[in-house]
Amino acid sequence: MTETTKNQDKTTKILGLKGMPDILPNETPQWHQFEAHWRRLMQLYSYEEIRFPLLEETKLFKRSIGEVTDIVEKEMFTFLDRNQESLSLRPEGTAGCVRACIEHGLLHNQEQRLWYMGSMFRAERPQRGRYRQFNQVGVEAFGYQGPDIEVEHLLMMARLWQWLDVEAHITLQINSLGSKSTRDLYRSKLVEYFSKYEQDLDEDSRRRLTTNPLRILDSKVKEMQELIHHAPKCYDFLDSADKAHFEDLLDRLKSAGLDFELNFRLVRGLDYYNRTVYEWVTESLGAQGTVCAGGRYDGLSEQLGGVSTPGVGFALGIERVLMVQSQQGFLNPPKANVYIICVGKAAEIEAMRFTETLRDTFPDIKFMLHCGGGNFKNQFKRADKSGADIALILGENEMLQQAVTFKYLRTEAVQETLPKEQVMLKIKEYFQHAFTSHINNQEKVL
Ligand code: HAM
Repeated sequence: MTETTKNQDKTTKILGLKGMPDILPNETPQWHQFEAHWRRLMQLYSYEEIRFPLLEETKLFKRSIGEVTDIVEKEMFTFLDRNQESLSLRPEGTAGCVRACIEHGLLHNQEQRLWYMGSMFRAERPQRGRYRQFNQVGVEAFGYQGPDIEVEHLLMMARLWQWLDVEAHITLQINSLGSKSTRDLYRSKLVEYFSKYEQDLDEDSRRRLTTNPLRILDSKVKEMQELIHHAPKCYDFLDSADKAHFEDLLDRLKSAGLDFELNFRLVRGLDYYNRTVYEWVTESLGAQGTVCAGGRYDGLSEQLGGVSTPGVGFALGIERVLMVQSQQGFLNPPKANVYIICVGKAAEIEAMRFTETLRDTFPDIKFMLHCGGGNFKNQFKRADKSGADIALILGENEMLQQAVTFKYLRTEAVQETLPKEQVMLKIKEYFQHAFTSHINNQEKVL
């Protein structure tokens, strides 16, 4: 390498990794709104937050998600640490959540209703709605056997769709995979059925015939659809207890007025599920149409060395839900509500002091104090760009009069130069309406 190429190498732009998108300031308001809705939802249903690490021992995911799943076989970011131990970035939250609950004794004769929020990592081929670092919110409940908790989870999601104004674009698909013995029996029936057509299977499905035959039902290959359509249904192999659970769930959903579709092909890509599985899907995102998914996993705690306790939960892909919401239109709130213009050093110093007083008095209003100097024209341009409704002006004149000029930026109303107390009253009056709606709707960001 010559000296010049070495130097060039030191200054070339370094880009972010493929499939690991940055979330830019013009996007974060929508994230904030989502997160505020989510936290309020969790409070409304009395769920408690749990936080667990991004990195875990690889064997945790192998044992829970399953050795022969796409996630474990192809999609984990796995590496050896300095002690030659295999670690993986979490591809989902359920495994880490159950591990943490076992480790801290949260599952001994106790019920838990928990939630989490954070980044997950899967080395998938990136495309619209599919990323290598993406964000989920999730819920896990432990110690509940019946379908009542499942209905609660589905009702909370239906409520969230309403709050986000996307309920018309998202539908619920539901299925039951039965107990482990049902699944074993069903697996053998599927192998029997698909083996008859082995020459018609695509390469992936042929491989799955011996490794994970249920996943053949998930194949998106067009030529396979007819064969999949006529495959045996898991429902027909449910034992009487599984069937009673499923029927009870469907009854309760109907009584709660929740619409759903039965989808007997729904199998999910993770091995820990038993009985109820479901997906909330949309047609507005093309191939990546599942925005939220989950189900029951009664055997997982034991599988990870904990006490036997029923578990049930779901996770929602935040990026996908925000994409659906954006398609319906999402308006960013203004960056500032009040912009403070100041020209001249004395005015700048006074403006800094006055703006701190304003911030003490009106903690819910966004004040942007002009920094960096410049003349009035230049500062008004910035004020306009900030989206603020009101400008407060401090210049030489105001300093002489010990006053502040109050100006509406979005109406023709004349500006007034007033004592500071009166300026504060006018601000209070103007934002009174916003304050009341803020109390009624905590997510309204001024
Ligand atoms: P999952 O179906 O693998 O389930 O993921 C849940 C959701 O995360 C998906 O429906 C999708 O919205 C989003 N998602 C998954 N992969 C990606 C990706 N590469 N890019 C963007 N979004 C993605 C689970 O993770 C289970 N832990 C859910 C669960 C919780 N089951 C019981 N409790």
